[in-house]
Amino acid sequence: MSFADVASVLDPQARSAGAKSFRIVHHTALALGLIAALETTLRSAAAGPRPLFVAIELAVAALFLCEWIVRLVGAAQLSVPPNRPAAHRRYLLSFLGLVDLISGWGLPLALLLGVPVEQAAAVGVLWSLKLTRYVPGFSMIGRVLHNERSSLLSVLAAFGMILLLAATGEYLVEGGAQPANFGSLPAALWWCIVTLTTTGYGDAIPATALGRVVAGLVMILGIAVFALWAGILASGFAAEVRRRDFLRTWSLVARVPLFRALGAGVIADVARMLRPRQVPGGAMLMRKGDPGDCMFFIVEGEVEVAIEPHPVRLAAGDFLGEMALITGEPRRATVTAMKSTQLLSLDIADFRAVAGQYPELTQAIEAEAARRAAQVLPG
Ligand code: CMP
Repeated sequence: MSFADVASVLDPQARSAGAKSFRIVHHTALALGLIAALETTLRSAAAGPRPLFVAIELAVAALFLCEWIVRLVGAAQLSVPPNRPAAHRRYLLSFLGLVDLISGWGLPLALLLGVPVEQAAAVGVLWSLKLTRYVPGFSMIGRVLHNERSSLLSVLAAFGMILLLAATGEYLVEGGAQPANFGSLPAALWWCIVTLTTTGYGDAIPATALGRVVAGLVMILGIAVFALWAGILASGFAAEVRRRDFLRTWSLVARVPLFRALGAGVIADVARMLRPRQVPGGAMLMRKGDPGDCMFFIVEGEVEVAIEPHPVRLAAGDFLGEMALITGEPRRATVTAMKSTQLLSLDIADFRAVAGQYPELTQAIEAEAARRAAQVLPG
């Protein structure tokens, strides 16, 4: 077993038995380490830490230290093209590289520097950041923030300007009446942040009529700013999910020979209309006699078409459910998945659109439908 094999076990996407076992050990250690760290910080300095929990924390830190070393050395071995210093630097300076570094070295270093165990254990809470590697949603948050950075920064700038203007207004209007709360710009700024974020502690309240008018405006603008932030982030997430789904569908469509022959441009067009669908073995895809509202392309797996005298099996690259769409008649046969099957579905409206745009594709489908029609026994 080479070092690269060991390092590949740490890949969060890896599906090997070794990688799965490592993830179980990693997550269990993390949970135990966090419980031990929380328990240790609960103990008063007089009572002293429980040796068992300190031992657990040290064992977890040792595991994470080993992981950091393997990731650091492995970063160079797995980089393409191999470039040792650049790969090491990239890993060391990445967010997850820094998290691994603190997770491995934080606790032992704090103890070596003489920090009391109860306080050093607080470093253990940072271990939870290691989970960001295993939660796909986190990388999506990062991408959304990056994609929407200019809109988010504009709102942030607007927020800052409202903050400064409103704080200056309250300082001028209320400063004389309430010097303790509004007598300086920093004090007025604190009130403004609390009000704009709609936190509203109520520790400082404008007393003059004009001061209250400004306060009312600040509150309304605070809600507007957060509505804008929420709107930008929500549409950013929706766009990112669409992009990810499109890429996934694209790669599935490209695996169906019928589409592959048409070229990348057409695949991209068709991918927008197709919906991926995964069905378990035994699932009924269509029942004989039902009206037809969509057809399927098989990407992976196998289905059985129950026709007389012998059922027919269709596999990856084949399509089904096209006859009802072409003729407008009910389904001619019941179709069941024989094992877990990955499909792409095309609904009837999109089938018509494809027929108009890509006649060569529809001709191929119609030719196969005609061949099949000749085999289906009536009844
Ligand atoms: P449809 O009639 O819409 O629904 C049942 C589907 O089974 C049908 O479309 C075809 O896609 C498929 N089918 C019917 N007969 C055959 C056949 N002889 N060989 C392969 N597939 C068939």
